[in-house]
Amino acid sequence: MSVLVTGGAGYIGSHIVRMLQQSSDVIVVDNFSTGRRERITDVPIYDIDLAADSSVREVRLVLRRHDVRAVIHMAALKQVGESVEQPVRYYRENTQTLAHVLEAMEAESVPLLVFSSSAAVYGSPAADLVSEEDETKPVNPYGSSKLMGEWLVRDVAKATSIRAVSLRYFNVAGAGSAELADTVPANLITLAIDALARGSAPKIFGDDYDTPDGSGVRDYVHVEDLASAHIAAIDYLSKTHESYSAVNVGTGTGASVKEVLAELVEVSGSTIEPKVTERRAGDPAAVVADATRIKERFEWTPTHSVRDMVESAWSAQLHAEG
Ligand code: UD1
Repeated sequence: MSVLVTGGAGYIGSHIVRMLQQSSDVIVVDNFSTGRRERITDVPIYDIDLAADSSVREVRLVLRRHDVRAVIHMAALKQVGESVEQPVRYYRENTQTLAHVLEAMEAESVPLLVFSSSAAVYGSPAADLVSEEDETKPVNPYGSSKLMGEWLVRDVAKATSIRAVSLRYFNVAGAGSAELADTVPANLITLAIDALARGSAPKIFGDDYDTPDGSGVRDYVHVEDLASAHIAAIDYLSKTHESYSAVNVGTGTGASVKEVLAELVEVSGSTIEPKVTERRAGDPAAVVADATRIKERFEWTPTHSVRDMVESAWSAQLHAEG
């Protein structure tokens, strides 16, 4: 089976590509705005700007040439802060690219789609364990654009023979190998590694939350477990008659900022202690996935611990700095 991965040269996309290569023919589309060509080996790569109308014709050719049966649509912008400053860009990029991909899939009768969504669609959830049935109420343009994407996918699946799953990623971290690492420090683990590498203290954004140790709690999922969830999603779509569903990708267990940073300080051998600062505006106390659906439907079980994520991210960073 051939699988097209859009955004396949990105941090998460390249992990998926590498895992898929073991069992399928893989094709990558990327515009290399943030993706890196060196992450991809032995795979046909097409440099296509999916936001342009002309991309529909180009993607159709790729789908036809490689007899593609499934698409994993990852290509998107993903910086929350940037999305607040540039909403038009985020709505346009994240919904238009998806519409073009769907149009091409429909025209070429490609039956299966995995759409890369986010726990950001929930916003600041009321319950600590968030299930797919809970209210979606994004609090920034990034999350809203992902929710719009989900609706678009759902409605196309209803109207056509396309079967689709939206995967709502929780906090993705770690690296499968140094060259695939996340190179943009924008989340807790990458920011903390960046701080330690520069000899400064990682920051704990508030320790007065209503959580066991007062710091924020999140559901961290290793990027290789996330990659295997995509492969399980394609297997599921190949068998199911269900036209559309949304599925959380999280472990079901939370870790606090203090716990994550304690692991990191230990792994790095650093003597620098993390520093408590003000809360960051808009951060909920705890966001942890109810992972019942993914475990039942996909028979997916995460295999990596927070320690694995911190260790792999740290050694990838050391490698990157030579
Ligand atoms: C992350 C994603 C977001 C996604 C959401 C889904 C990133 C940058 N953001 O948001 O796109 O929608 O998961 O659940 O990956 N923290 C510190 N110090 C730091 C950085 C963060 O204490 O230097 C804390 C935060 O307050 C939070 C936790 O660490 O409690 C995780 O923060 P972060 O990695 O930025 O991710 P989220 O905000 O959860």
